[in-house]
Amino acid sequence: MSENQSANQAAVENRAENKPWMIETQDLTRIYGDGEQIHALDHVNLKIAPGELVAVMGPSGSGKSTLLNILGALDRPTSGKVFVNGQDLEKIRNKDSFRARTVGFVFQLHNLLPTLTALENVEVPMIGYLGPTARRKRAKELLALVGLSDRMNHLPSQLSGGQRQRVAVARALANNPPLVLADEPTGNLDTAAGADLMALIRELNEKQGVTFVVVTHDLNVARQTRRVLVMADGKLIRDDCIGSPIEEDLKVWSNSELGRRIKEGDFSILEPLGISHEEALILKGIFENSPAAD
Ligand SMILES: Nc1ncnc2c1ncn2[C@@H]1O[C@H](COP(=O)(O)OP(=O)(O)OP(=O)(O)O)[C@@H](O)[C@H]1O
Ligand SMILES: [Mg+2]
Repeated sequence: MSENQSANQAAVENRAENKPWMIETQDLTRIYGDGEQIHALDHVNLKIAPGELVAVMGPSGSGKSTLLNILGALDRPTSGKVFVNGQDLEKIRNKDSFRARTVGFVFQLHNLLPTLTALENVEVPMIGYLGPTARRKRAKELLALVGLSDRMNHLPSQLSGGQRQRVAVARALANNPPLVLADEPTGNLDTAAGADLMALIRELNEKQGVTFVVVTHDLNVARQTRRVLVMADGKLIRDDCIGSPIEEDLKVWSNSELGRRIKEGDFSILEPLGISHEEALILKGIFENSPAAD
């Protein structure tokens, strides 16, 4: 893994301000089994700054869910250290309280309690932290935030897959956690519903500053984040920072044959496309300011 690739903007700013990382792992290792051992996580060193939106990709069995489970204190490392929001997970006495207040979870399957309505599902994590009236008010606000005000009293079985995942996102945000961990949240959704869910996640990330770590097999989902981690055999093998999707597209265009000719002022290639000289000049300006290829 190249160091400079992993040095993304949020992380750099975070370090400059000397704030705690939202997530920091040091040689995080998780071994399963007594006889033949499986290194589900193998010396993973990772830093994620507050406010990042990070995708985790990698083949089946590469350790993505194991990583999320440990970050959410649902599982413990065999060795190595994990800090979440500055807290050493090993030293946390009350794991339930940590899970309720610091991390929200969104999973692909078995997400919602089937006998409870959408509203009641969102209220569950607040039990013990807020009284019934405050819980109900907050749950309604959260369902409005994810665009489901008109489905509050529906059971999960009466909602579409995409709507169920929106309820799961609302529930994950119940106690206002700074971090949300999502394991293949778009996995069982069709393309359109998956794109809608990612748009919601991006909005919550940008407007509310919630840090998201999203495991996905879908490149289109990963492309909507700013940083993609790739795992293989329990190791972090890549850590790529990508610009906004539009920047990525511009980078590809700008470095294509078309882009090269436009930057040189050769607009003849654009005439058959019906692009005027003025428009071509605008394109030239954009391409000249877009980043060069890696
Ligand atoms: N409870 C367990 N006991 C033994 N081995 C396990 C257990 N959980 C996971 N593993 C093993 O650890 C490795 C990592 O599993 P993990 O679930 O983290 O993979 P993943 O990347 O999430 O895969 P997928 O994309 O299929 O969800 C796999 O080889 C898996 O078989
Ligand atoms: Mg998994």
